[in-house]
Amino acid sequence: MSESNLPDVYGEADLYCAAFDEPVEQEVQWVIGECERLLGRSPNAVLEPMCGNARYGKAFADRGVRYHGVDASEEMLKRATLHDDVTTSRGDVRKFDVPRGPYDIAWCPINSIRHLPTPSDLVQHLQCVRRHVSDDGLYLVETDLQDQDGSLEDVPEYHWSMPQPDGSTVLAWWGAERADLATRRVWEYGRFERHVDGECVNRSESRYEMLMTRAEDWTELAAAGGFTVEQVVRRDAGGARSVVELSPDLENIDERILLFLRVSGA
Ligand SMILES: C[S@@+](CC[C@H](N)C(=O)[O-])C[C@H]1O[C@@H](n2cnc3c(N)ncnc32)[C@H](O)[C@@H]1O
Repeated sequence: MSESNLPDVYGEADLYCAAFDEPVEQEVQWVIGECERLLGRSPNAVLEPMCGNARYGKAFADRGVRYHGVDASEEMLKRATLHDDVTTSRGDVRKFDVPRGPYDIAWCPINSIRHLPTPSDLVQHLQCVRRHVSDDGLYLVETDLQDQDGSLEDVPEYHWSMPQPDGSTVLAWWGAERADLATRRVWEYGRFERHVDGECVNRSESRYEMLMTRAEDWTELAAAGGFTVEQVVRRDAGGARSVVELSPDLENIDERILLFLRVSGA
């Protein structure tokens, strides 16, 4: 997959990475604990498809879980901090082959999975991940669930700011413009600006299509990819997590949804 097929926002990788430069240690600690409980052992290694700059790598490695990330963007990968237990490779997540498996867990946060163009690309990706994880392995996919159709003008955009070590501040806006439920497509945009002393010194904006999935899609998608949906966790804006049923109640809500997919037949 070439860089030109990716949203422009990943070409402006300094701005993108700065906008997501938040602490991830507590989240990783929780993920490892939850996987230990479900696997009945400590995970040995984690695979992150669509890893970007591998910002989760250190937090996993510091807790004894070897990390390997895969991404199509050279610009994102060259910003990763690597060592023996944090490695990456460049590839398309629909057809990659990486060494040092099997991995006990795979992990795909913040809606990256929705970059896959169609449900059949998603199935191809799941099958590829399945080949890399152990026979009782888990794939944790964080994804919004949606059943939107038509104009999304009334849906509020997300906006946040991230102070940087050099004294600048990166501001980010993220939103969706319209959706087509029948083809499971949604048209989104992202805008990033770096401000120094209140003035914008760098800006990037891009519009791109994403995949949309409904709650009911996942049983079939997971099965076609070699997994079953074992657990669903929702996290509200305050950070409180709860285990819930996979249901339409999870669609179009302003909360993070984490699907725990287990290798079928485990
Ligand atoms: C939202 S970013 C997330 C990065 C990382 N998971 C994180 O949390 O920081 C999504 C990433 O997916 C990558 N990507 C999109 N489509 C891809 C594909 N088909 N194969 C490999 N990487 C892809 C992009 O290059 C980008 O780095």
